[in-house]
Amino acid sequence: MSELNLILLGPPGAGKGTQAERLTDDFNLPYIATGNMLRAAVQEETELGRQAKAYMDEGKLVPDDVITGVILEAIENADARDGFILDGFPRTIPQADALAEGMRAHDRELTAAILIEVPDDEVLRRMSGRRVSVKTGRVYHLEYDPPKHEGRCDVDGSRLVQRNDDKPETVKNRLAVYHDQTEPLINYYEEQGLLRRFDGTRSPTEVHDHIRATIATLRLEDEL
Ligand code: AP5
Repeated sequence: MSELNLILLGPPGAGKGTQAERLTDDFNLPYIATGNMLRAAVQEETELGRQAKAYMDEGKLVPDDVITGVILEAIENADARDGFILDGFPRTIPQADALAEGMRAHDRELTAAILIEVPDDEVLRRMSGRRVSVKTGRVYHLEYDPPKHEGRCDVDGSRLVQRNDDKPETVKNRLAVYHDQTEPLINYYEEQGLLRRFDGTRSPTEVHDHIRATIATLRLEDEL
């Protein structure tokens, strides 16, 4: 069986993290999420976190040269050699080119770019209700996916908080950045025959079923 190398694309709040958590369980692949890595770096006050914080707080992208090396290194780690789920990278054409080059250099290739599509007004609704565990990073929504006990993570009871960049003004900036800098990747991967589109307005379970079925088909085709 060849590698399963997946990237998740879509606007902020499309449900990339929500789906990644389920796909990681399904396919037993390492989950590499740039947003989570950067937030951890900010919290730990590392050099990477110091460089990224101001950009993230304003809803801007951190510069390509700050993030690219970190991700190329992560996908070459031993646990990602049989495949990975990459969430939040690439986000610009130069990042996509760097990823393609890095993979080619190791004789690897992407399996698919999973695009989860959700309109802007739904993104704004989702972000205002999103809550995240300070410890496990598990994502909830006050209305669509509430925790069993208010303000506490189902997994370990840790505190749930709102992300710094989920304020409405910052979310609007993030959406503008997405349309301007990340959306061109849709054509980029479509032209390479790698793009698979999913309707992110369906329930998390329906979106998951659809993605899982598509990946299963891709694997079957690969085996033929
Ligand atoms: P990042 O953390 O990657 O943020 P994002 O792409 O904006 O995505 P989100 O995490 O906000 O949303 P998601 O799609 O994962 O949605 P979720 O599953 O949580 O990046 C943050 C920042 O880091 C960037 O702004 C940038 O500054 C920097 N950065 C990161 N990568 C970078 C890069 N490569 N280059 C430069 N800078 C970079 O779901 C959202 C909510 O909706 C939740 O509450 C969830 O419960 C709910 N929900 C999910 N699915 C459904 C559904 N189907 N129906 C109803 N509700 C749902």
